[in-house]
Order: sequence, then structure tokens, then C-alpha cells
Amino acid sequence: MKLWKKDAVPDPRVIEFTSADDRTADLHLAEWDIAGSVAHAIMLGKTGLITPAEKDELLKGLAALYDKAAAGDLIIEDGVEDIHSQIEKELTALTGDTGKKIHTGRSRNDQVLVDLRLYTRNAIDNLAVNIEKLFTRLLELSTRHREIMIPGYTHMQPAMVSSFGLWFGSWAESLADDLLLLGSARAVVDRNPLGTGAGYGSSLPLDRKCTTNLLEFSDLLYNSAYASISRGKAELAVASAIASVAQTLARFSTDVCLFMTAEFRFIDFPDEFVTGSSIMPQKRNPDAFELIRGRMHILQSLPGQISLLVSGLPSGYNRDLQLLKQLIFNAFSEVNECIGMTVVMLDNIRVKDNLTDNPLYNPIYSTEEANKLVRDGVPFRDAYRTVSSMVGKKLFEKTALSEYTHEGSIGKLCNDEIGRIFRERSLCFRSKTAGELIASMMKK
Ligand code: ARG
Repeated sequence: MKLWKKDAVPDPRVIEFTSADDRTADLHLAEWDIAGSVAHAIMLGKTGLITPAEKDELLKGLAALYDKAAAGDLIIEDGVEDIHSQIEKELTALTGDTGKKIHTGRSRNDQVLVDLRLYTRNAIDNLAVNIEKLFTRLLELSTRHREIMIPGYTHMQPAMVSSFGLWFGSWAESLADDLLLLGSARAVVDRNPLGTGAGYGSSLPLDRKCTTNLLEFSDLLYNSAYASISRGKAELAVASAIASVAQTLARFSTDVCLFMTAEFRFIDFPDEFVTGSSIMPQKRNPDAFELIRGRMHILQSLPGQISLLVSGLPSGYNRDLQLLKQLIFNAFSEVNECIGMTVVMLDNIRVKDNLTDNPLYNPIYSTEEANKLVRDGVPFRDAYRTVSSMVGKKLFEKTALSEYTHEGSIGKLCNDEIGRIFRERSLCFRSKTAGELIASMMKK
């Protein structure tokens, strides 16, 4: 069934090529498409474009379709092009001629836009919950191991004294910034495109504010032509935020793999959490983190892919945009799976004690020594030279660690402050599931 059926019979190869994978992708949108239709039907009733009885009939049909979708029984039948066509077909089967009115003043272009924005808003909120789980683990590990010192590196050379507290906490604070980007992407997504039609509005007296309130969008996407070119732009904002999370995970994984090597041995995992080799009996490999790193590296190419996909498109709807869906759905599942696995691994991480007792790391106390001279009134540049020449002559000996008192140092991690920033940035991530949204619209 094609909503756009003409006299000529479409060539099946064209139909297959233009909608094959897309039909599978569309199943992610089923519940949201129904939610959009509920809001649209209520609005059509309110403006008098359909009668109150017709509105009630549509809502009843849509409620039944929602139950079917929630039970996983809504499928896109052979010969049906997409989820929008399937739902309209089933609604018409349930309600007869009334079902044919659901598309009044609407195009599949604004329909898919609203579906995607509802889906993405909710997916962002679920991702934020997962990020919070990882953030909480990292901050707990930081606080628990704040007294355990490790060498800190620059240029991959031992540099200064650091701690597990500083190391774990650094990744937590990185997630707090990722969350800010995710919140901005959410704000881009959280505007209502419904009523912008194919990109040029409608001559029917639609009430766009009504659907905006019903669907709990923060505001309208006003300009109809912008709504259509916003597809891709919104995805780019989301992909950039996800890529930022992916970078945090990838770089953390690199550190974990490095810190697990025989040369470092800063951390370890129980045997159940490492993998072996088919030929080398001694191997204990950090495969989980290598795969997280690899997958998160690939995910970081997503903003580039989206930019390439949309930047050369003329304004208005172009079918290329359909390809964005699978990219975004896949991005959410990739990042969520990798966050989940990182949490599992962190629940089992073991850290080594007394690492800085190794004489190999004695030189990392040289800045410490210079600062001691500074405290006695020696200008830093002179103190530096004195210590540097001791190091050069191999006369430098490890000194005791002084107290670190400034914010963000090993002596004062400020994890409470990092937690506060994270919580402040979490406040925007609240949205209903499709079922909750539909239930609350039905009550109004
Ligand atoms: N599957 C299409 C997409 O995701 C739905 C919109 C179709 N609109 C059209 N004008 N052909 O973009």
C-alpha cells in the first residue's frame, strides 16, 4: 500500500530500494507516531476540522493501536512502505472513513519529524540516566581511592604525583560536560514541527500551539521551511553530544588498557572479567575495554557522516534524510551498550596500592622538592634549577609528599562540587514514555 498511489504501478525494485531497511528502522518510531497522531486528532477536533465524534473514534482506534505496538505486535506488512502508512492503514481498517481524515493538514514530512523529535527526546533522557550511573560509579571510586597515589603522566613520561581519586574523578567530571552538551542537543530537539506539513505549512486553520502543549514540547518550530531543513541539523547536535560521551569512554578505555599492562599494573580485574588467548596460556586481556574503545572511536565519526549526508542538500525535503534514522538509532544503542559494559567492569575493578613506592617513580617528586624551596622563599626559577641539577647528577632523592590544598588537587578533589554540577545539568532530562504521553493527552 502506498499513500501516494498513482495510476502507474511502481516498479518493485524501486520500492524495495527506497524502503527496505527503512521499514525496520521505522519500527522504533511506531509508538511515537501514534502519540503524534493522538495530538493531531485532538487538534483537528478542537479546530472543527473533524467532528467531536470523529475525534473520539480516532482516539479509540489509536489507543488500540498503541496497545498493539506496546505489545510488540505492530508490524509493517509486506507491500506497506513505512510506519506512517501502516498506522494509517490500520486506523482506517478500525474506524472506516474517519481514519482517512487523520492525515488532514499533515504530511509524512512533518509526521516523521515529530516522531523523530519525540523519540530522540526520550532516548536522550534515557541516555542521561545511564550516564548518571557511570558518573556515580566513577565518583564513588574516586572518593574511595582518594588516598592511593599513582604517578601522573605527561608525554607518556612519569610527571607528578597523582591519585586514583584524581584519575577516576577526572572521567566523572568529563561526563558532567558531556551532559551539558546532551542537554543543549535536547533543547534543539524539544520543539514541535507538527503542522509544518511538507515544509510549507497548510491552508487549513491548524492550531499548532495545541499540539505543542499536548506533546509537551517546550515551544514550536515556527518557520515551516526551517522545520524541514532542521532534519539533519537536530541529528547533528545529538550526534555531537553522543560523540563527546563516546570520546570520554574511548579515552578512559585507553587508560584502562594501558594501566593493565605488565609494565604499569596499576589496575586489574578478576579472571572472570578478562579474556585469554588460544595459544598463550598466560594471557589476561582487557577485551571489553578494547571493544568499547573501538566502538566509541567509530561512533565519533557520526557527526562527520551526518554533515556529509546533509550539508550539500537543497532546502525542502529530500529522501536522503531518511538515512539519518538508522544512524541515530544505532548511535543510542552503541553508546548505551558501551556505558553499560563500562559500569559492569568498574564494579569489578581492582586498584593497586603503594605504586609510588617503586623507585622508578622517584623523579615525580622533583616538582614537590622545588615547591618546598619556594615555600622557604626561594624564587621558583632558582628552585627549579637547583632541583633539576640534582636530578641531572642523580643526587635527587624522593621527598615526602606535601599537603595539596587547592581545589581539584589530590588533597582536595571537590567531588561534592563535581556532583553538584552534574545534578544541576541533569534537571532538564525529564520526559514521558510514549505510553505516558498518550495517556496524559487522552485525559485532557
Ligand atoms: N521514510 C521517509 C523518511 O524517513 C518518510 C517521509 C517520506 N516523505 C516523502 N516526501 N517521501 O524520510
